[in-house]
Amino acid sequence: MLGDIPRALWYEATASDSLPRRPEHELVMNDSNTVTDYTSCGTEGGALFGPYLYNAVQVSARVQAGDLVLDLGCGSGQLLNLIAQWNPATQFRGVDLAPNMLSKARATAASSSLSNVDFIQSDFSTLESIADGSVDAVISSMALHHLPDRIALSRCFASIGRVLRPDGALYLMDFGRLRSDRSLEIFVGKVAISETEALAEDYRASLHAAFTPEDFQTEIARLGRQSVEFYRTPLAPLAMVAATPPRSTVPGRNAQFRQAVRRLNRTRRAELAQLRMFLSIGGLGFPR
Ligand SMILES: C[S@@+](CC[C@H](N)C(=O)[O-])C[C@H]1O[C@@H](n2cnc3c(N)ncnc32)[C@H](O)[C@@H]1O
Repeated sequence: MLGDIPRALWYEATASDSLPRRPEHELVMNDSNTVTDYTSCGTEGGALFGPYLYNAVQVSARVQAGDLVLDLGCGSGQLLNLIAQWNPATQFRGVDLAPNMLSKARATAASSSLSNVDFIQSDFSTLESIADGSVDAVISSMALHHLPDRIALSRCFASIGRVLRPDGALYLMDFGRLRSDRSLEIFVGKVAISETEALAEDYRASLHAAFTPEDFQTEIARLGRQSVEFYRTPLAPLAMVAATPPRSTVPGRNAQFRQAVRRLNRTRRAELAQLRMFLSIGGLGFPR
């Protein structure tokens, strides 16, 4: 008898095509209950905190002192504030369309006395208020699947290409669309065991709204930047990343990472280790 995960991977391997896309019903997350619930998942010990630590290390290895870094769909800013704390000589700007998310993000930055991060209300698919070639790095975490359709994804990559300086850094991480409903329900079921029903439902909606690995690869090719590579978790694209290579070593920041990992409980630590392992099998090394 196959275990749940091998069974899900088998369904993925044998399905003929990706599932049809179902966009998120709340594209811009401005409802106050949504903002509160989402923010609580990203606090230390919450379900999103492990992925935040992972992304914070990856981003820290790609930014340098003096850079201006844009975070697309920053939400309540928990990831960006953490990265800003780890990289005090770099300037960070979070972009989101939800005023309530932005208020939360600003309040957290102020309570941590962060002076190297700000937050602006803007559509990340157009980045209208951002000048051409004015940004040193563009990052994003779990946000691109909130775009309404494939055309908006293309527009978003074109906007990234416009605002990012020619040798700028990129780190875009998101969910990938699965190929089988049965595997999707197995992965959601795993989340439902340890998390709230609402979070499991959010995860289901995100997986349905995710773009496919082929969508990402097409947009990366259109971006026309040789240094951008595509990575994904093998067999099932639960996580996908478009990234330029690391530019710096991060010894100090890795010490902060290790300290934060020590404070995680066993379940969270195991989830983080799994993300790290599966993306590294997919080719994305973890900077030391
Ligand atoms: C799932 S949250 C991700 C937040 C954060 N990046 C993280 O890693 O937790 C997606 C965010 O994207 C924002 N968003 C959706 N569409 C947007 C758009 N077109 N322009 C700017 N923000 C958008 C939502 O309001 C929401 O805050």
